[in-house]
Amino acid sequence: MRRFLLPMLILALALMAACGAPAATPSEPAAPAATEAPAAAEPTEAPAEEAAPEPTEAPAEEPAAEATEAPAEEAMPATEINCGTEEEVTITFIGDPAGTHPDAEAATIERFQALCPNITVDRIPGDANVQNLLAVYLTAFEAESPDFDVIRVDVIWPGLLADHLLDMSEYTSQEQIDSYLPALILNDTVDGRLVALPLRIGFGMLYYRTDLLEKYGFDAPPATWDELESMAQTIQEGERADGNAEFWGFVWQGNAYEGLTTNALEWQVSNGGGSIVSPEGEIEVNNEATIDAFERAAGWVNTISPPGVVSYQEEDARGVWHAGNAAFMRNWPYAYSSSLESEAIGGNFDVAPVPAGEAGIGAATLGGWHIGVSRYSENPEAAAAFAAYMTSVENQKHYAIDTSSPPASLELYADPDIQAAMPFASPDIVEVTTARPSTATAEQYNEVSTLYFTAVHSILTGQQDAATALELLELDLMDLLGN
Ligand code: GLC
Repeated sequence: MRRFLLPMLILALALMAACGAPAATPSEPAAPAATEAPAAAEPTEAPAEEAAPEPTEAPAEEPAAEATEAPAEEAMPATEINCGTEEEVTITFIGDPAGTHPDAEAATIERFQALCPNITVDRIPGDANVQNLLAVYLTAFEAESPDFDVIRVDVIWPGLLADHLLDMSEYTSQEQIDSYLPALILNDTVDGRLVALPLRIGFGMLYYRTDLLEKYGFDAPPATWDELESMAQTIQEGERADGNAEFWGFVWQGNAYEGLTTNALEWQVSNGGGSIVSPEGEIEVNNEATIDAFERAAGWVNTISPPGVVSYQEEDARGVWHAGNAAFMRNWPYAYSSSLESEAIGGNFDVAPVPAGEAGIGAATLGGWHIGVSRYSENPEAAAAFAAYMTSVENQKHYAIDTSSPPASLELYADPDIQAAMPFASPDIVEVTTARPSTATAEQYNEVSTLYFTAVHSILTGQQDAATALELLELDLMDLLGN
């Protein structure tokens, strides 16, 4: 059943568009977002500012402030929160170290502790690399360690971690469960158990510098990889000639880790090469379209992208972009709010769909994070109360605005504050979202992804040609999946 995740997500968001979200033209997935995206001046309006005062606001003032915001009034009232226990307890939460997430999480904890003062939440930053984070979780879980109470669950992990997580439906109101996009609840339901609560959605996006496009006479962001290559080359040459020797055309995530799987899947799908493993379990890697897509990406290294891009994760790419040294960046929505704070960029940026390849379509890998509670927690009620609060409609709104990450609850998309903070969170971008094969491969997903990004990395670094690497990858995947 979980194979219907993507269509349902699209359906839900299309429905949302019909119910009052900004106009969208789903029949033209690759192009319209760019024209619909805010004018260059808009980012300087700094929607994130709305979020800035919140962490410092006395939490007791929150309900009053909320009451003036009509859409948020529908949110679960803070006063109804069930803290799960009256005992004084301390729980641990494994936080996100990237971008604006640490501040947003600290603000979440502050709001929660104002409602449940007997529960202290100890925030421990997790590893930014999701494979490393998963390894830490699995080591702790295998030892049945009570060290982690509340954890962040990547959208690809419910199948992998289900046995170690509590069933959140026992701790969450039906009203809250019904608030989420149905596709996300489906994603998080394993053998009838709701093993995590959705917090936010992610998808690949192309960030671009509006001032530099204008300077070099381009009137729209690139719609295809070919256009991106030539625009990146022109801007890079021009900026270097103008004295910025550090300038690069395009930055992305090329390290050998999960982030490369998400980038490479976009190259592959946009070229018509399939999606690693189809929902029916067919292995889709060894074909001309994928060979061409990966050869093209290998050609970016040390031409329009820095040689070091093969070791970049999200925050490395964002660092180059944030310093004003890149024309284009592939990243997730979270980079939007922090880009607004860059003095070097000065608000001169916007976002567009990831470019299209030979297949004529762009692809954006579906990401996002959900919150789960360890089965080995010594304070499961308190931990579940925090997880439910963090993912409540009320807190999601704050969190989404603070981090410019699209929320998991449908009603929030119609909220004007959310629209102002992330104008790109419209269905025409989500229309091209591609899920990684974590449902089709379940417990084996991490091994599938590791084989995939290792092969892609060997192509990017020139250790293997694409045809050989993909032939071997296909054999390895056949071995692993037993085809
Ligand atoms: C982002 C996405 C997540 C993905 C990761 C890869 O955090 O939300 O789903 O696995 O990036 O680096």
